[in-house]
Amino acid sequence: MFVEVEKKSNKLDNYKLMLENAPFYLNKGDSIVTSLANTSALINYFIDNVNWVGFYLFDGDKLYLGPFQGLPACTQITLGSGVCGNSALKRETFIVDDVNAFPGHIACDSNSKSEIVVPIVKNNQLIGVLDIDSPFEKRFDNTDKEYLEKVISVLVDFL
Ligand code: SME
Repeated sequence: MFVEVEKKSNKLDNYKLMLENAPFYLNKGDSIVTSLANTSALINYFIDNVNWVGFYLFDGDKLYLGPFQGLPACTQITLGSGVCGNSALKRETFIVDDVNAFPGHIACDSNSKSEIVVPIVKNNQLIGVLDIDSPFEKRFDNTDKEYLEKVISVLVDFL
């Protein structure tokens, strides 16, 4: 079923493996919860130095907690609030090197030091965001942005 699940020693190779594996864990016709659950597990497996990987979903008004890996988290985020709410509102990926320096950052896990949030948009409709936290400052760079946006575009085809 899987291309290869043995992790490599470098980040880029793991991202490539993650992308190759993604379609094997996703099926057209699965519920959104199913697809997001497997995608959160896949990302969590293939990337290092993170403490939370998951989704917030847009219900037409606010973001609510979806499938994730990590500690229990805040359940609702207003559009425009925190990193997730800003990414969702602007429909742009946000990389935050130091969450304590981000105005309005919503702290769910006090261990989180940096964060990346990727919006999920299908047919111009906001579906939600992918949110990843790290216990290290400056954990995320443009390679993370590039590959996480790619895995989200694969996911969107199955939603
Ligand atoms: N830190 C996020 C909230 C979600 S948790 O990190 C899981 C934010 O500021 O939007």
